[in-house]
Amino acid sequence: MKQLIIINGPNLNLLGKRETNIYGNLTFTEFHEQAIKKYPNITLEHFQSNIEGELIDKIQEVGFTYDGIILNAAAYTHTSVGIGDAVKAITTPVVEVHISNTFSREEFRHQSYISPNAKGVILGFGLQSYELAIQSFLED
Ligand code: DQA
Repeated sequence: MKQLIIINGPNLNLLGKRETNIYGNLTFTEFHEQAIKKYPNITLEHFQSNIEGELIDKIQEVGFTYDGIILNAAAYTHTSVGIGDAVKAITTPVVEVHISNTFSREEFRHQSYISPNAKGVILGFGLQSYELAIQSFLED
């Protein structure tokens, strides 16, 4: 059974009530429960933190044994050399995900410290971006 984890960065704990015009009305817990039911043949964990170091610790912890990491580093995507280095350091493939199309938004969101070392990048499909990332690991 494939072992995947979704790692979410800062403010993604507010999904469902944060800027719903951009991020939608569903909470991440609701999405996660639906995904677990839809993909019974994988284990799909979820970890969220607003703290950069905790995200790095989690990436290091799972990054040599899990089959895949689905990472939405949120605002840290655009600022964190540390998270970028963590993604580079591990052996587990990372798919970078964003709910919104970051390229259609402010210029500072066009930069990513994750993308150069990600297996792939999926963005702009709402919470479906996570589902497409899950599916990308099933194909392997
Ligand atoms: C985001 C895009 C980031 O620019 C932003 O800081 C987020 C969410 C997304 O999923 O669209 O918090 O990663």
